[in-house]
Amino acid sequence: MKFTDLEKLKGREPERPARLSAPPRAAAPRPQDPAPAPPARPEEAGLSSETAEAPGSSVPAARPAAPPSETGRMIRPAPRAEENMGAPEGAAGPGSARAAGPAPRERKNRGQSNEAPRRPLEALEADASLAYARTLKAARDLINGLDGPFLDGYARAMAALDANYALLAEGPLLLKYTFHATADSYLYGHTANTAIIAQAAGLALGLGAEDLRLLAFGALAHDAGMTEFEEMVSRDVKLVSSERDRLRLHPELGADKLDRLLDIDHRDKERLKRIVSQTHERADGAGYPAGLGAEAIDPLAQIIAAADVYEALTHPRGWRGPMDPHAAMKEMIDRYASAFGQRAVRGLVSALTVYPPNSFVRLSTGETARVIMVNRRSLTRPAVEVLLDADLAEMTPQEIDLAEHPLTAVEREVPWSELAAKAPAFAARYELARWWRDW
Ligand SMILES: [Fe+2]
Repeated sequence: MKFTDLEKLKGREPERPARLSAPPRAAAPRPQDPAPAPPARPEEAGLSSETAEAPGSSVPAARPAAPPSETGRMIRPAPRAEENMGAPEGAAGPGSARAAGPAPRERKNRGQSNEAPRRPLEALEADASLAYARTLKAARDLINGLDGPFLDGYARAMAALDANYALLAEGPLLLKYTFHATADSYLYGHTANTAIIAQAAGLALGLGAEDLRLLAFGALAHDAGMTEFEEMVSRDVKLVSSERDRLRLHPELGADKLDRLLDIDHRDKERLKRIVSQTHERADGAGYPAGLGAEAIDPLAQIIAAADVYEALTHPRGWRGPMDPHAAMKEMIDRYASAFGQRAVRGLVSALTVYPPNSFVRLSTGETARVIMVNRRSLTRPAVEVLLDADLAEMTPQEIDLAEHPLTAVEREVPWSELAAKAPAFAARYELARWWRDW
């Protein structure tokens, strides 16, 4: 069942997501256009800077792991639409205008590919945008609903999160939406994004169905205790040390709030409380509130913790800009591997790869593109959205799955600082499009 069908059954219109609007073809950037804020450093994100183990080259390739269905709580299989696989040669995503872009690219015959069939990007896009809107709504409902007894909080959240698993297993386009932030409270966007990133990591690690559900719900609930400090964390200034000390109460406050869930098995609730209370523990013992070591921390809490910090690094806050996804991933590997444990970081790296969604790359054509989807079987050939031509002039966005276009390759990553310096007007518009709005 598609989400639109689900909404019809419930007799209401689905929440409409804001799409990253296609920047109009524009003249060359003007020198007076303002550049966005520089990327944040981890210290500015209020994160501890534990020494990390370098992972070397042992990061395994991500592999698709369809959620097991042996338990009573089924995770729906990824929808397939094999009848759509014969997409016209050169077909592109919505909003693309090949006539306005470069010459059509050589496209690999899908019939000769070893990859599992999936729907075309444009079909995934429609479901992913609705899934993101529903995840954001689930985050708002859960965070606000836990202020009192919550009759169906678990079931309502899991309806959205189970649908995410089905979509992520088919093709993780949903991850590109974790670019978004919410202006009324950063908590909604942050927790929705953390949940989606943790879900992708859980799938990459091949977790079982029960763990996948607890992982997703735990990630969505992990900051429930932050509502007690909302005014403090919403200010546009960094916290002082005494405020940071008070903030250290939030994992246990959040765990206590889960007692207000009335529709969950008590054993699951107890494990979720443990998970939420441990999301700021660190495998090297440097976390809080208890300073637990790796063996004492629930593995799901470690995955959520890794997703939480990656999201925090790449998410803008009042006092700093976001960190480039490339740089954030490098920080996770170089500096935080010992804090979260190798397995959790491996799950994150497997899900996001060396070209994480929403990072920028230069293609062999000279164009600049945003990574929109990891290809699990071809990690160096993600699906991208080409946004700037070889002269860094904005062009009509063009979605291309590089796994299907063997003649076009990623040449190198493009740091955000380079993009902001060379195409400041584009960079400013791109940062503006980060703020999610319902319409
Ligand atoms: Fe968090």
